Amino acid sequence: MKKVEISDYGVPENVARCVEVADVGPPGPGEIVFDVLAFPINPADILFCRGNYRLRPPLPATPGAECVGRVVAVGSGVTDIRPGDLVANMQRENWVQRRRISASDAIPLPTGLDPLQAAMLRINPATALLLLEDHVTLKPGDWVIQNVANSAVGRHLIVLAKEKGARTLNVVRRDDVAPELKALGADVVLNDGPDLPARARDAAQGAPIRLGIDAVSGEACKRIADSVADGGVVVTYGSMSGADPVISRLALGRGITLKSFMLGDGLAKRSLAQVRAIYADLAGKLRDGKLNAPIDATYPIEEIRAALAHAQRGGGQGKVLVLPNGPV
Ligand SMILES: NC(=O)c1ccc[n+]([C@@H]2O[C@H](COP(=O)([O-])OP(=O)(O)OC[C@H]3O[C@@H](n4cnc5c(N)ncnc54)[C@H](OP(=O)(O)O)[C@@H]3O)[C@@H](O)[C@H]2O)c1
Repeated sequence: MKKVEISDYGVPENVARCVEVADVGPPGPGEIVFDVLAFPINPADILFCRGNYRLRPPLPATPGAECVGRVVAVGSGVTDIRPGDLVANMQRENWVQRRRISASDAIPLPTGLDPLQAAMLRINPATALLLLEDHVTLKPGDWVIQNVANSAVGRHLIVLAKEKGARTLNVVRRDDVAPELKALGADVVLNDGPDLPARARDAAQGAPIRLGIDAVSGEACKRIADSVADGGVVVTYGSMSGADPVISRLALGRGITLKSFMLGDGLAKRSLAQVRAIYADLAGKLRDGKLNAPIDATYPIEEIRAALAHAQRGGGQGKVLVLPNGPV
């Protein structure tokens, strides 16, 4: 079977290669084996290949924080998952054709779910939900401001905030995405820039912006914090700029709290039953088309280097996915 390995930390399309390895073998007690149907290339995977992610395992290593698979065999004692089921995997190292994992690490998925959307269920929809739920108790009508609003997380956040009755100010870096974000339910779409805080406050018409959400970091984080009302919260959860987050003394003086967010920490605070309930709900929303992450292109696993180059090009229309076992 084939899998992706990185032999060094560095430029992803230079250090990643598709290699032939032994099959995973049959499932042991409590295990399942599944064929990986699809995995996305997320910003965190790019950081992982570069050696800039918080996890930096010994090399060679296999990237891949999420995937969707079709179960081919289950071991003794596995009662809630059957061959043919679609599953997501809570564990890493998913850039591979086949996985053998503990059944307790699998998230069973509903039928009728598009496998490509299912491949992107584990990380971004849950991140958007927990960003909205874990830091500020939002009331209907409350304003939230977020940057990278055109990302998969940003798009899910627009929809989930709307469901809660909250209003969103969405900061982007290019004009052409505004109509699509408005169609998703974005109340306001603003281009980033030095005067963002003034434009954001104008757009909220004096109503307090209670929650700021940042995944650009650096000075962009400062602009989000300067947009948030006195006593508000800014959550920084990514760094598309590669910089560390900045906050002004003025914002600190206004009682703004800067917090960081990691999905794994947010899920770890919840019971397995709660985690499964979150994913069942989000999977239903993906199946019903309420949540959707646009896809720019798909690649076979043998073309992992081209897929990685594509995922970093910018200006695309969505995610790059890899289909390790052929078209789905
Ligand atoms: N902390 C966590 O647990 C967690 C979990 C999930 C995701 N994340 C983070 O969330 C962020 C979004 O992830 P995603 O998978 O949703 O992203 P994505 O769909 O791959 O989209 C990436 C987005 O970043 C924007 N972007 C790229 N470089 C930028 C720059 N230098 N300045 C401003 N914007 C830039 C792109 O803008 P265009 O649309 O204009 O190209 C695009 O909207 C990433 O930073 C990721 O690491 C964190």
